[in-house]
Parts: sequence; C-alpha cells; structure tokens
Amino acid sequence: MTPDTLLRRINDYTNRADPYPLYAELRENGVVRQDDGAYLVGTYYEIAALLHDPRVSSDQRSRKDPDPAFTQDGLTPAFIRLDDPEHDRLRRLAMRPFGPPHSPGRIDALHGDITRIAEELIDAFPDKGRIDLVDDFAYPLPITVISRLMGVPHEDVPRVRAWTNAVIAGFDPTPGQDPERRRQEARQARIAMGRYLGGLAEERRSHPTADLLSALANDDGPEGRLTPEELMSTAVLLLIAGHETTVNLITNGMLTLLRHPEALERLRADPGLMPGAVEELLRFEPPVQYLPQRSPLTDIEVAGVTVPRGAPLILVLAAGNRDPRRFEDPDRFDPLRKDNQHLGFGSGIHICYGAPLARIEAQIALNALLRRLDDARLAEDPPPYRRSPILRGPRHLPVERDATGTTG
Ligand code: HEM
Repeated sequence: MTPDTLLRRINDYTNRADPYPLYAELRENGVVRQDDGAYLVGTYYEIAALLHDPRVSSDQRSRKDPDPAFTQDGLTPAFIRLDDPEHDRLRRLAMRPFGPPHSPGRIDALHGDITRIAEELIDAFPDKGRIDLVDDFAYPLPITVISRLMGVPHEDVPRVRAWTNAVIAGFDPTPGQDPERRRQEARQARIAMGRYLGGLAEERRSHPTADLLSALANDDGPEGRLTPEELMSTAVLLLIAGHETTVNLITNGMLTLLRHPEALERLRADPGLMPGAVEELLRFEPPVQYLPQRSPLTDIEVAGVTVPRGAPLILVLAAGNRDPRRFEDPDRFDPLRKDNQHLGFGSGIHICYGAPLARIEAQIALNALLRRLDDARLAEDPPPYRRSPILRGPRHLPVERDATGTTG
C-alpha cells in the first residue's frame, strides 16, 4: 500500500484498536501528501513547530476547499477555529472566569465535588459481574462536572448528551451512512445547544449565580464582554470539549493500566504517582489523535516538502507522541517517564484551555478506581471502540469482578 492512502487507513474503523503501526509508517515517510490533496505530519518536532507557526491557520475559511461541516454549522465560529487576534480576544474572555490570573481558585475548588461524584458512581457498581467503565463511570463523571461548572441543570444533562453526540458525528471523517444528513443533524444540534445555553445565560443576567455561564454573561474585562452570538458558540465549545475528551482519557487510562498490571500495582500502592502517570497516558494513548483543521496561509516548507496555501494540513499528535527522535523507547508505557513534553493537549496558541480540569478529573477518577476496584479484569481486549479516529477511545470498557465487593 502506498502512503497516499494513509489517512484513509487511519480512518478505517478496522484499525481503530491499534493505529500505531500506521503512525510509524507515517513518521518513516516524512510529510505525506494524500490523494485528496491533504498533507499529513506525524513527526514530533515538525508538529510542534507548526503548532507555533503564525503562518498556519485554524480557520476553515483559509482553506481552498472549506469543509461545510465546519463553515455551515449554524453558529459563529468558536475560538478553537479562529486565528489571532480574534482567537486571543475570545480565549482571554473565556479564561477570565475559569483560571488564573482572574479566577485562580476555580478548578482547585472542584476537587471535593469531583471526588464525591466519582465515589458515588463507584458506590452504584454491582458487587460482582460485569461493569461498563464507560457508561457507568467515565462518561457520567466529566459531563456532570462540566455541566455543574457551567451551570447547566442536572435534569438537562441528557439533552446535552444527545446534542453532543449529534455534533461530534457531524465532523466524524469516516464515511458512514448519509454524511449529508449527519451534517444537517449536527448543525441543528449546535443551533439548539447554542440557543439553550444562550437562554440560560440570559436568565443569569438578571439573576447571577456562581457558575461559568453567569460569569460569561456578566463579567466585563478590558476588552469588553462577549456578544450574545460569541457567548453561544463559546459555551457550546466549552461544554463539548469539556467532557468528550476527558471520557477517553479515563477509559484509555484504565484500559492501559489493566494491560500493565505492574504499573497498576505501583500506582495503587502510591497514588502520589498518578499525576505523572496521567501525563504518560496523554502521551501514550492521547484522546485527541489528530488535529484535522489546520491549513497554511501561504506556501510553507515542512521537512523539505512544500505544503501549498489553503491545503488541509493534518497534524497527527498521537504519531508525534511516539516519535523515537523525541521519546526514548516510545512504545513503552512508563508512568515514571521523565521529560514528558507530550502533544496530548496540543501546543502553541490553541493549547488546551481545559487541561488543568482534565488533569485533576483523570487523576481523581483513576485513583478512585484503583483504590476501590481491586479485583477487576478486562472482559474484552481490545474493547469495542467509538467510531471517531480523531476523538479515539473505547465505546464500552467491560470489566469483570469476582464476588469480593467494592472496597471503601
Ligand atoms: C483529556 C482531556 C482533554 C484533551 C486530551 C484535550 C485536548 C485538546 C487539544 C489537543 C486541543 C488543541 C486543539 C487545536 O490546537 O486545534 C484542545 C483545545 C481546547 N480544549 Fe481541550 N482537551 C481536553 C479537555 C478539555 C476540557 C476539560 C475543556 C474545557 C473545560 C477543554 C477545552 C478546550 C478548548 C476551549 C480548546 C480550544 C483552545 C483554543 O483554541 O485556544 N478541553 N484540547
């Protein structure tokens, strides 16, 4: 097979459980042009440089052939899909209520809540038999946390889940059935979700509460306030990005630990090692495998190949994370790894906004599971995966338990 079909093979569902040999092939071939004109990059230093390069755009409108899944999605583009200075203005406004310097305590204050939610979910596991760690734990935890943080009422979480599924399906690059219909449904879901969140924010204007939507609706910064349209697309972005990826970090994490019993025992004995282990999981099995939406604003040269202005430039973070030129023994899972500057949260101006939250959620979740599930083993390996090759993770993670019960 030739490298010009690599992306098609990466996207092919049959390769979902183990795309890593394809990523090795990509690295060996340098910058690879696909037969549809897209360029794939999978080497660490090239990806890192492109993520910091102001000639590389995240805005679909910079493309020769913009993808309607992004340009006609019903709301104004959120800052993940804009370049500076617009990106910077919106990101700073969204950051004011979320983290330092204006809100330094917001994420730390969630520690107790996250622990409580994780423990309650584990309390509800059956004492023996099969548990699905996705449906019974890894999905409900982050969606509950981000909904509370934003100020979305608990009873509305099922609607958020349905909208999110439709939006994610809209930019799934695998062909599947009726892509046009999927795109329409995604558009409607984004609009519905935006209106819903905009409506909540409007209520909070007259009755502010302590949540993020209230702050986004009421706070003035030096650069003013979000317009109602900006608020809608920002809130949709935060709500979706705030849980879809964290689910995969927790499930990829448990899957990897159950496959590496020595590492698991070590972490169970010393939970203080978990922050480093989570970084290694972000390197080894990153929840966002590639970034599909960059394109150069001018012709650029990458590792000796000219990538023309407006061509889709696909940065395969998961391939960069296993580049032997950057990481020693990269295919080995080593929770004690030093010098672990992985690309799991991206890099440069779009580096993940929610990384501090994702990190503490994953650390608390995995420590709680290790402490309380001392008898779990994988019921299926590999487990069934979700469709998306971009937001990659198990759809279900069935584990079996003997009769010892959940320890307290
Ligand atoms: C394990 C969990 C997560 C992973 C692996 C992850 C990964 C990423 C990556 C790779 C990017 C860069 C996208 C790009 O360069 O185009 C990104 C951006 C972003 N993430 Fe996350 N993310 C996670 C959790 C979160 C959470 C919890 C939130 C919100 C609370 C969040 C909000 C965002 C936002 C708003 C952006 C856009 C930043 C910008 O454009 O400046 N993410 N994330």
